[in-house]
Amino acid sequence: MSVHNEIRKVTTHRLSEMKLRGEKIAMLTSYDFSMAQLVDEAGVDVILVGDSASNVMAGNETTLPITLDQMIYHGTSVVKAVKRALVVVDLPFGTYQGNSREALSSAIRIMKETAADAVKLEGGKEILESVNRILSAGIPIMGHLGLMPQSIHKFGTYTVRAKEEEEAEKLISDAKLLEEAGCFAIVLEKIPARLGKLVAGELKIPVIGIGAGAGVDGQVLVIHDMLGITQQFSPRFLRRYHNLAAEIKGAVGNYITDVKSLDFPNEKEQY
Ligand code: KIV
Repeated sequence: MSVHNEIRKVTTHRLSEMKLRGEKIAMLTSYDFSMAQLVDEAGVDVILVGDSASNVMAGNETTLPITLDQMIYHGTSVVKAVKRALVVVDLPFGTYQGNSREALSSAIRIMKETAADAVKLEGGKEILESVNRILSAGIPIMGHLGLMPQSIHKFGTYTVRAKEEEEAEKLISDAKLLEEAGCFAIVLEKIPARLGKLVAGELKIPVIGIGAGAGVDGQVLVIHDMLGITQQFSPRFLRRYHNLAAEIKGAVGNYITDVKSLDFPNEKEQY
């Protein structure tokens, strides 16, 4: 391979450079080898092996049931496919909130067994001890504030977070704490656009939004949602770039018709 063909891997340092020069960061989820290969080749900057795998891959109502072993399985499959993007793997519910030793051993398992570049954790002040311990082991962390799906039973609904002053103040202070601790980026989920812009303006590290408006440093979506594979989920922040559900059903329908009508396989499609 010539020097010119060499792929420059995205690093946490490159993401901060992108923020400095005002270049927006494009991030998407992936959970398996084939999809991650396509997403990486298309040029996305960050691939998140999100615990949304619990919903879109495993069919669970919430992200709570997915296990560390399952996240490691998805992470390993994705990392094998990716040449350029920075790969971040979610620490699943119950593997870091209890105590910081457990948090560190969960993060170490992810880094060792998947070879991912970083982990993502939901929460601010409440999980600071875990954040510090993981960072002290040299593991890069992406924070996650605003709507935190792992705390859905505390929130009660998936509605917009931090609309009230008190919750907005806490979010700002948590974001600053995570930055001071040494997180390299933060995801803000489903908050008012003006709050997203304010936090991105206050922090030096990149702020990636999902339903946090246009004033943040980058955007993230769940790949199944933006490709139109999931059909029931239509929050305001979601832009669908394809209607893959219709395409897949159409193709499968054609295959069924061809098999039943003896059109497939034809002469050229057999040995
Ligand atoms: O799990 C996930 O997909 C996420 C994104 C929604 C940011 O955390």
